[in-house]
Amino acid sequence: MSDSSNASPTVVDDRIAVPVWDWPVRVVHWAMVICLVGLVITGLRKGDAMAWHMRLGEALLALVLFRILWGFVGSRNARFAAFLRGPRAGIRYLRSRLKPPHEIHVTHNPVGGWMVIALLVAMLVQATLGLYANDDVFWDGPLAKTIAKKTSDALSSLHSRLAWVVVGLAVAHILAVFVYLVAFRENLIRPMVVGKKRLPAGVGAAEAARASSVKAIALLATCAAVVWWIVRTTPAAG
Ligand code: HEM
Ligand code: HEM
Repeated sequence: MSDSSNASPTVVDDRIAVPVWDWPVRVVHWAMVICLVGLVITGLRKGDAMAWHMRLGEALLALVLFRILWGFVGSRNARFAAFLRGPRAGIRYLRSRLKPPHEIHVTHNPVGGWMVIALLVAMLVQATLGLYANDDVFWDGPLAKTIAKKTSDALSSLHSRLAWVVVGLAVAHILAVFVYLVAFRENLIRPMVVGKKRLPAGVGAAEAARASSVKAIALLATCAAVVWWIVRTTPAAG
């Protein structure tokens, strides 16, 4: 089965709308946004909200695991190999932003690609720390009892501090997207919603955004099951 948004490109003024993001990239992106916002609110509210903090945290962990694996087996544009480039490519891209002609990238640009990695790694570490965290009063992360209390306290303190690194990266990411919108008049948000980007003719190919829905659903279910299995079946220490 393939993405229904991958029909042949349609002409819109001088540029052509070409599918660039497969549906799993888009759905997982907006699901991550909802989880992260919910995690910050529930983490700060504490109390009964912590029950939702754990659920949202486990959901986010499954989503991040999925996105990392999708970076190897997803549509061509979603693969890390399509957008991870060395520092020289990054500098060349930044220069081209200052002085036209601008480089055009179908998928993430060479700087944005590393931001994606930073966000995914930061969220992966943060959510993993959360599994081992405790609030010293009522709530334990699902794996907190599998380690010594002193270690869990140290990981909780890291979890509290890394939360602001994750938030900082997300804010920088959102600001960058708005800089493109306002200063460069390039709307990157719409493609992350509808999947298609307007590109000059000949740039980008619809096949590069084509993904198997069966593979995506199976992988998403597997990631959710793995997280569920780890948090529900790991026995407490001692
Ligand atoms: C990216 C994902 C996550 C973010 C951004 C996040 C964010 C936060 C924040 C802001 C706090 C409050 C810290 C403070 O007041 O000092 C917190 C506390 C906590 N979180 Fe998370 N969290 C995430 C994932 C998780 C997960 C997956 C779990 C467990 C399933 C978890 C369990 C906890 C626990 C037990 C606390 C209380 C720790 C304490 O009070 O020191 N978190 N989290
Ligand atoms: C709040 C937490 C957010 C997180 C953790 C986050 C994370 C990410 C990640 C991981 C990607 C890479 C997508 C992929 O390749 O799978 C991405 C891309 C993107 N995000 Fe976010 N995002 C957040 C919020 C937002 C918001 C609020 C917007 C819109 C206003 C937004 C707009 C975009 C766009 C447009 C891209 C594609 C950028 C490009 O074309 O290279 N994000 N985001």
